[in-house]
Parts: sequence; C-alpha cells; structure tokens
Amino acid sequence: MGNFIKALEPGWLKLAQQAHTVADNAYAPYSDFPVGCALELNDGTVVLGANQENASYPLSMCAERVALFSAKTQFPSKTIDKLFIIAPNSKSKLPIAPCGACRQVIYEMQKRQSSPIEIVCGSEETGYLHFNDAGELLPNAFGPEDLL
Ligand code: THU
Repeated sequence: MGNFIKALEPGWLKLAQQAHTVADNAYAPYSDFPVGCALELNDGTVVLGANQENASYPLSMCAERVALFSAKTQFPSKTIDKLFIIAPNSKSKLPIAPCGACRQVIYEMQKRQSSPIEIVCGSEETGYLHFNDAGELLPNAFGPEDLL
C-alpha cells in the first residue's frame, strides 16, 4: 500500500529540508548510507534523527528510531503527525522505505495516540512514497493488543 508521488506537497517541504540537512549528522562509516528523519508533532515541533552506526554492526540505530524515541522522551504527551525520511546518498532508483524494525516501532507509536502518523519517504530524484497511516506499512501487525 501507499502511493507513489512525484513531488512533495507544500506542507512537507520544510520537514523534507530538515531531514536532508540532519542526514549530515549520521554516523554511517560502515554503510556509507546516511539517513535523515524529521517528525512533526501536533504543535508544530520538529524532532530530528540520523542513523548512528557502531563497529559492532547490529548495535546501529536507524534514523527513524532515533527521532521517534527522542520525540516521546522529550514530548511524551504530544502526538506525532508527520514523519519524513530521506537517504541522500542512496543510489537506488526507488524511494527509501523504513526497515521492518522501524515499521514496528512507528506502528506502536501510532497506537499510543488517537490520530494517524502520515509518512513520506524518498527524494526529488526517486520520487516519494506516501502513507496516510502507519498501519499501511505493516499489515496484520503484531501489537500491544496481542499481549492482553
Ligand atoms: N537505515 C536507516 O537509518 N533508516 C532506514 O529506513 C533504512 C536503513 C540505516 C541503517 C544503517 O545505518 C544504514 O541505513 C544502512 O542500512
């Protein structure tokens, strides 16, 4: 699911630019694949993340989870309205899309609030993928209700 879009709507331009800029703060010497993520909260606050790798590779953390966990740490009562992801060095012709682990985390962040998280990922070169709701990224997801 999700829609392919060629150009960003105006409401996403600032977020996209901030995500692009913060990708410079990635620590990605192993993959050479910096990623930037920008989240917008319900009051307009923007929280940024960039991937942070480690010589012990599995300890690395994706840009999305850096931003998501930081947002809920700093602003626990605010909702996440928008999430934008960009991989400026990507050689792929396809838009970047979040990994499975990040999809799981985004999904549960959405569950914690009563409004959807809208997600856009990609770049001017690749075009963009647009999702209206985190559930589109993870059909038939495992979630908190499974533990009841
Ligand atoms: N990565 C992200 O930060 N977000 C994604 O959506 C995909 C992958 C990072 C993890 C790793 O540091 C590098 O990109 C290559 O996989």
